[in-house]
Amino acid sequence: MAGIYFHFPFCRQACHYCNFHFSTQLKFQEEMLYAFEREIQLRSEELPSNLESIYFGGGSPSLLPPKSIERLINGVYSSVKLGEKIEITVEVNPDDVSYEYLKGLKSVGVNRLSIGIQSFFDTELELMNRIHNVDQGIDSIEWTAQLFNNFSVDLIYGIPSSDLSTWKTNLNRVLTYTPPHLSTYALTVEAKTVLAHQVKNNEVELLDEQLVKSQYDWMVKRLEEANYENYEFSNFSKPGFNSINNSNYWKGKAYVGIGPAAHSFDGKRKRSWNLSNNIQYMESIKEGVLPSHYENLKLHEVFNEYLMTGLRTSWGVSLEKINQSFGRHYSQYLEKQVENHLAEQRLYWDGDTLRVSKSAKFLSDGIASDLFMLKD
Ligand SMILES: C[S@@+](CC[C@H](N)C(=O)[O-])C[C@H]1O[C@@H](n2cnc3c(N)ncnc32)[C@H](O)[C@@H]1O
Ligand code: SF4
Repeated sequence: MAGIYFHFPFCRQACHYCNFHFSTQLKFQEEMLYAFEREIQLRSEELPSNLESIYFGGGSPSLLPPKSIERLINGVYSSVKLGEKIEITVEVNPDDVSYEYLKGLKSVGVNRLSIGIQSFFDTELELMNRIHNVDQGIDSIEWTAQLFNNFSVDLIYGIPSSDLSTWKTNLNRVLTYTPPHLSTYALTVEAKTVLAHQVKNNEVELLDEQLVKSQYDWMVKRLEEANYENYEFSNFSKPGFNSINNSNYWKGKAYVGIGPAAHSFDGKRKRSWNLSNNIQYMESIKEGVLPSHYENLKLHEVFNEYLMTGLRTSWGVSLEKINQSFGRHYSQYLEKQVENHLAEQRLYWDGDTLRVSKSAKFLSDGIASDLFMLKD
């Protein structure tokens, strides 16, 4: 068993780019906690032994007091046998926290934080409608660095109005805190967001794709020089600080997602997801009914997911694993399909492992989808 993910679906303010499931009506937080505890009990059969990670994401789980996080951790402990080294992460919004609050999280067993800094320019934070400012961001990193030896910082590049120079400033600034882990995301325009509306009405002009690529390429080089491993397209870590939660997810291990809109995977073929409505989720759980749907992935869908994550991660795509898990038909198909990318030096073989070349990293997703199998 890899991990448990809690999706806490509340935020103080909606960021213009975000279409994760959350509500800015904060009043049902206590009821949501009860529903989480009940969902853990209802799914206790699904929570096998050797749990390696508990992850509080959202939304904004840093709205929860440390006592509530402790209640949920205890709820898990009463149902599951734990692995030896368990990673317990909380995603933190800078405006939610104080030194005392972070100390409180540490005292209830949280041993990793992920802080949503995004940028060190107030103009960029305002453009994205982040609720916090640069000073709050700096305070939250400084307190975190004093209290936790394992933490991650989220930054966004490709922000309209940014350029290579502002991005260099952002990244160099974060490196002064020597975070053990960084997650960096290109700003994407998601359906039904304010940003999508602004782009459609020409109120916001997106950054040129080549400029976004140059920001990404510069970052990869800069972080390599600073001794970070780019172990996944958007994730960088100092030695020994890969996120257990994220790595297990990319390695296709099982995880259980608790809360509205949370996804789960059984580590084989079954993927399920809770419905994305806070009230309906809580009512259903109260009645003892899991508000979830599921699908069984077809073999070629599992293969395509393996290609996508393999090419995004430092562990690559193994021909031997394809032979074992999918059969010769799949490995022969792949060997044929990659020819063009090998010739253009976007991909290369490292023994029996297929990898994306450095210069083509930014194109990883497009390359993977070009290799997809369309039926079993
Ligand atoms: C969904 S948030 C949850 C954690 C916390 N609420 C926060 O904002 O940091 C996780 C990360 O996803 C990023 N994110 C969400 N939507 C995005 C988008 N459209 N483009 C780039 N990053 C995005 C957020 O900025 C944040 O760093
Ligand atoms: S990015 Fe984080 S804080 Fe902003 S709306 Fe999404 S979940 Fe909430």
